[in-house]
Amino acid sequence: MKVSVIGTGYVGLVSGVCLASRGNHVTCVDVDSNKVASINNGIPPIHEEGLEDLLKQVIADGSFNASIDLESAVRNTDLTLLAVGTPFDGEHIDLSYIETASQQIGKALKSKSEFHTVVVKSTVVPGTTENVVGKILSEYSDREIGAQLGLGMNPEFLREGEAVTDFMNPDRIVIGAVDQTTSEAMHQMYAEFPDVDKLETSPRTAEMIKYTANSLLATLISFSNEIGNLCASISDVDIEEVMQGVWLDKRFSPLLNEQHDDLIRSGGNNKSRCIPGMTSYLRAGCGFGGSCFPKDVSALIAYGKQHDNTMQMLDAVMSINANQPKKLVDLTDNVLRRSIDDPVTDASTLKVALLGLAFKAGTDDVRDSAAIPVIEGLQQLGYRISAYDPIAMENARSALETAMSGNGSMDGVTMANGIVECIENADAIVVTTAWPEFQGLPKMVEKMDSQPYVIDGRRMFKPDDFKHYAGIGLQPSS
Ligand SMILES: NC(=O)c1ccc[n+]([C@@H]2O[C@H](COP(=O)([O-])OP(=O)(O)OC[C@H]3O[C@@H](n4cnc5c(N)ncnc54)[C@H](O)[C@@H]3O)[C@@H](O)[C@H]2O)c1
Repeated sequence: MKVSVIGTGYVGLVSGVCLASRGNHVTCVDVDSNKVASINNGIPPIHEEGLEDLLKQVIADGSFNASIDLESAVRNTDLTLLAVGTPFDGEHIDLSYIETASQQIGKALKSKSEFHTVVVKSTVVPGTTENVVGKILSEYSDREIGAQLGLGMNPEFLREGEAVTDFMNPDRIVIGAVDQTTSEAMHQMYAEFPDVDKLETSPRTAEMIKYTANSLLATLISFSNEIGNLCASISDVDIEEVMQGVWLDKRFSPLLNEQHDDLIRSGGNNKSRCIPGMTSYLRAGCGFGGSCFPKDVSALIAYGKQHDNTMQMLDAVMSINANQPKKLVDLTDNVLRRSIDDPVTDASTLKVALLGLAFKAGTDDVRDSAAIPVIEGLQQLGYRISAYDPIAMENARSALETAMSGNGSMDGVTMANGIVECIENADAIVVTTAWPEFQGLPKMVEKMDSQPYVIDGRRMFKPDDFKHYAGIGLQPSS
């Protein structure tokens, strides 16, 4: 099938490249000509494992190209996926990119005679596909939905950092078509995903499924953080052990019979268990970030208010999350002040090494990353900070410059060229992203003369990996 994708961000580019590798001919469109040029040269502007190889392959096969020409992309394809950003403007979901792109697609359809289907892949609040996108498309193309114009909603569930694997191996494909032709076109686009559960539903339900899924996962994280913060205020209770005890309930990690023995073993009692990915959300840390959870939960809260439903639980989820970076800042300040002989020491004589700027491992995305408020908080307390991330340095530098322009400058914050430079002469090392590259930290710290405190914001280490350790959800030893 011939598909055009509007927007070449994490979702648009990954969807476009993956769909091209599975039987479709895809043109990805973006307003950013630098992105388009880079993509056509086989260099993805974002970091995702496996994306560059797949992009080069589909370009070589002739099944994929990128363009800035939306009109001809729409004219020369049968189905258009809308994958532009839907940020939160502080009060509601901001649909301006969706509206502009819908107008452009509608105008492009005026110069085409064949039936054309438009499918919303961006995350949008219920009703947007029909009441906003559908309305604009009809108005600008002079076509009626169902007559010469098809409309549908197909939410995307890929996770940044694992985007290609997730897209190629989806748990489910949600098909929210308004008309029968669109339903058939979506099935055809996904024809090479034969074994995946396909859920046919209304566009509104499709829109709601995406928000509900993200809100539930965010809730699990804030719930774990709330319990973790309680654990941190009492002695001898570690949130990691508490949560492990919770997961070992067979409703969270089902016991498997002998024929599933190849699955993960829990150890100990020789019984096999399936440890669902959901348990990774049932852990405490310095909070969720990224381009989806914060904005999607906020958008659902605002949508609820518009419909006279106060989303009390989701309000709490956001407020716990907003405080979580401060928990890490306070923990760092607390252990640093206790570890130095002279409590009046000027904080600017102390160096904090911060490891991890991306909102999670595997991505260069720093949008709403907890590392940014942690750096700001430590800077405000006067500490000197050296920060490092394996791949998100460039994005983090501009995010920090923007975040800190309000309070002066990046004074006292330096970006290190590597982990060794970052932790050199550090009085404390704060871990904000669980990058596999940081696994070697215990050995590196062991070799240091000073034996700095390691403050683990992601609980990726064990307390006895270091001489001086403090972690979220664990009271620091005195
Ligand atoms: N990032 C994720 O992990 C993820 C996962 C699932 C769903 N989503 C949803 O998918 C949507 C896109 O997210 P993203 O992270 O890929 O966004 P993004 O900001 O990374 O990319 C959006 C792209 O759209 C382009 N664009 C904007 N207006 C355009 C127009 N009129 N014509 C052509 N290009 C245009 C921008 O230049 C940009 O490159 C959002 O609604 C998001 O909530 C994101």
